[in-house]
Amino acid sequence: MDSTSSRKKTETTKGTGYKDTPQQQRLDRKQERAEAAQSQAITETVARSDTETIHLEVFRYDPDVESKREPRFDEFHVPYERGMTVLDALIYARDEFDSSLTFRHSCRMAVCGSDGFFINGRQRLGCQTQISDLDVPVRVEPLPHQPVIKDLVVDMDHFYERMEAVEPYFQPDDLSDDDLKEQRQSRKNREKIKMASRCIQCGCCTSSCNPSQTDEEYIGPAAIVKGYRFYFDEREGKDVKDQRLPLLDKEHGVWQCHTQFSCTTVCPKDIPITEEIQELKRESIKRNLKF
Ligand code: FES
Repeated sequence: MDSTSSRKKTETTKGTGYKDTPQQQRLDRKQERAEAAQSQAITETVARSDTETIHLEVFRYDPDVESKREPRFDEFHVPYERGMTVLDALIYARDEFDSSLTFRHSCRMAVCGSDGFFINGRQRLGCQTQISDLDVPVRVEPLPHQPVIKDLVVDMDHFYERMEAVEPYFQPDDLSDDDLKEQRQSRKNREKIKMASRCIQCGCCTSSCNPSQTDEEYIGPAAIVKGYRFYFDEREGKDVKDQRLPLLDKEHGVWQCHTQFSCTTVCPKDIPITEEIQELKRESIKRNLKF
């Protein structure tokens, strides 16, 4: 026991008249146990922070800074905590080691789609990827096949342009004059488009898709999924449906898909992207059949 605790004990017992009573002895033993447990916890925390660190290798590039124009990997050793994600580790590295480390993130719950990275050789969301599920060192790179703006930030302009090509918004034939009237949908139809509605536009699918890299005009898996989501929505007007399918039924649309399945494999929302593209191909054929 240290001198502080001895002093405390003496002060506690002074003048009470209970110094050697069984009750005081129990209190003393209790205090000793509490102090031992606290000391043990401190020792374990220090030991853990010394040994359990995660080795991160992070891609760095900054065209505006001469010394960083040559792409390279920087190494960071981040203290590991149970439940830590790759995004948590990156945030720690940025906040504690290098404030110039740049990456996008927002919701930290796989909803905004802003932190798609290439982690240990596969497209994943940083906030959805547990460090404990990865081999170390954990290598984090920007999404492949997209121009890099800085560090892990890629230019998504082309991705969004392709998305716009399918008019990704709800277009009912006629809207009621009453703004508050609901546009109702049946349960069955909701089930039909449920998975496609989950797309968060993170770009992981497009980054993994080879035809998207070899054909600049290919609208890509994310845009096709968006087209699927609206084409099969029963609330869209018939005229709109008739116009929407031709946006997808073209050489640089669904027919450019090589059924490679990489988009489906990496999708963080488990959308059956390849199957949905094939379904749109069947729809296109049915529409073009003339009897
Ligand atoms: Fe929003 Fe990861 S931070 S999806």
